[in-house]
Amino acid sequence: MVDAVKKYFDLVKAFESLEPDEIEAFRISYLGKKGILNSLFSDFRKVPLKEKKSFGVELNKLKTAVLEKVRDLKEVSKKKSGSNKISDPTRSAFKINTGSKHPLSIVKNRIIDIFTQIGFNISEGPEIEDDWHNFTALNLPYHHPARDMQDTFFIETNPDILLRTHTSSVQVRYMENNQPPIRTISPGRVFRNEAISSRSHCIFHQIEGLYVAKDVSFADLKQTLNYFTKSLFGNKKMRLRPSFFPFTEPSAEVDIYWGLETEKDYRITKGTGWLEIMGCGMVDPNVLENCGIDSENYSGFAFGMGIERIAMLLYQISDIRLFFENDIRFLKQFKTTI
Ligand code: PHE
Repeated sequence: MVDAVKKYFDLVKAFESLEPDEIEAFRISYLGKKGILNSLFSDFRKVPLKEKKSFGVELNKLKTAVLEKVRDLKEVSKKKSGSNKISDPTRSAFKINTGSKHPLSIVKNRIIDIFTQIGFNISEGPEIEDDWHNFTALNLPYHHPARDMQDTFFIETNPDILLRTHTSSVQVRYMENNQPPIRTISPGRVFRNEAISSRSHCIFHQIEGLYVAKDVSFADLKQTLNYFTKSLFGNKKMRLRPSFFPFTEPSAEVDIYWGLETEKDYRITKGTGWLEIMGCGMVDPNVLENCGIDSENYSGFAFGMGIERIAMLLYQISDIRLFFENDIRFLKQFKTTI
């Protein structure tokens, strides 16, 4: 009986294959349910009393030997496949640069994330707009002086068609097609006929937000903005400053406290420490009515911000033109998972 075990010992020693499936077959043939070891263990009962002890010892030795052999073979096989593996011989030997998201997309996605977490959806609209959606519905009738706040690109042959100057036009469209409660943010590209400089561009991006429901108050606006600025800028102080927009009443501008420690802080905050990041206010009842919403029953707030401006603050970028030049040296600095 002991000799039978010794015979299996020799077979274990002789086994040399490094192919994973052969190692596995070897393991199963010894250690599997119907394997050699189990059958030898069940023979144990039949072994004459005087041989039992030495048979048991040999059997255990065999088991340990098999376990060690399998472990060693697996290790060698792993090392070998690691060093010799050529996964794709056509692959370039040079490091391949992966792309990165544009900083404006990164910031846009962060802002969208913050608002979708509190129930806002996303709405989009056309970049080529008509006068009604961009101006008239928003309390800016023809010849109203406030139209000059946003220098406009008109289509020469038809003064009723223009490139939208803000994504408030999307909010008008959304209200025309949906009844309250409305919670929507409208990201998109906008156009203004402005001279290009380090601080302004004729094309830029905005995210505007709109909330219309029963009993919406200025306090709701303030808390929403508080949540937003905390999420995006951390624990910076926020303040609201009275302002004017034709489509909101009352209107305000939102500032965050940037600090006044370095010379750069002085420069970008013009010596005040505060930075303006967006406009906001309670939607003018006229605007609600223009869009088919009963202003006796519903009220709402709106806000709007420029994505470039926020990105410049977050990443300390001092020239807005960098966003549009597609210089790879600039873009590749923005690696992120968002
Ligand atoms: N539409 C305004 C702009 O582009 C921003 C704004 C939106 C202000 C909503 C108040 C309320 O300047």
